[in-house]
Amino acid sequence: MTTTPGFHRLRDFVVAMTRLVDAHGCVEEALLEGARPLLAALIAEDDWLPERFAQPDATHYRQFLLHGDPLGRFSLVSFVWGPGQRTPVHDHSVWGLVGVLRGAEISVPYRRTGGTPALAAGTPARLTPRMIEAVSPVLGDIHEVSNAFDDRVSISIHLYGANIGAVRRHVFDPVSGAAKEFISGYSADVVPNLWSSAGR
Ligand SMILES: [Fe+2]
Repeated sequence: MTTTPGFHRLRDFVVAMTRLVDAHGCVEEALLEGARPLLAALIAEDDWLPERFAQPDATHYRQFLLHGDPLGRFSLVSFVWGPGQRTPVHDHSVWGLVGVLRGAEISVPYRRTGGTPALAAGTPARLTPRMIEAVSPVLGDIHEVSNAFDDRVSISIHLYGANIGAVRRHVFDPVSGAAKEFISGYSADVVPNLWSSAGR
C-alpha cells in the first residue's frame, strides 16, 4: 500500500499538525495560519498519496480519510472527483483548508441574503494544483464544489478542525434556503499505514 516514494511526507504532515494543535488548542485563527504552510508543503509534491486513496467512483465523489487525530482536533481527507462530479451546496461547521493536488476544482461561495433566493452565489474560484482555499463559520462556510474537468479526475486534500466524517452539517436548497442535516462519513474503512517502514 505504501509504495509511493514520497509517502513520508504524509507522516511528516501528521506529526507537524499534531504539534500545532498541541500548541494552539482550538484557536481557529492560529490553526489556520499555522496549518496553511504545512498543507502547502504536503501538496507541493504529488508523490505521496497511495493509489488506493486516489481511486474515483463512477457516480459520486469520494472522501478518503488519510488521518484522524485521536482527540478529534483535525482530520485529513483526500477528495477524489470523477469527471464532472460535484457537491451540493453545503457547509462544514468547522474550519477547513482545501488544497488541490491534481487537476482543478471550482468552488462557488454562497451567502445568506435574508430574502429570495435565500442563498446568493458569489464569484466562482478556480483552484489549481498547490492553491489553497479556507472555509469556516467565521470566514464563510457555505459553498458548492465541482471538478473543473469533464474528462478527467481531480484530487484535493482537505484539512478540517474536527473529525469531519462525523460532524453534523448541512446541505442547502439555495432558492428556499431549506437546510438538510447530513453526516458525510468516509468512503473507506481503512487509512494509510503511517507507521510502515515505507513511511520513512
Ligand atoms: Fe466543502
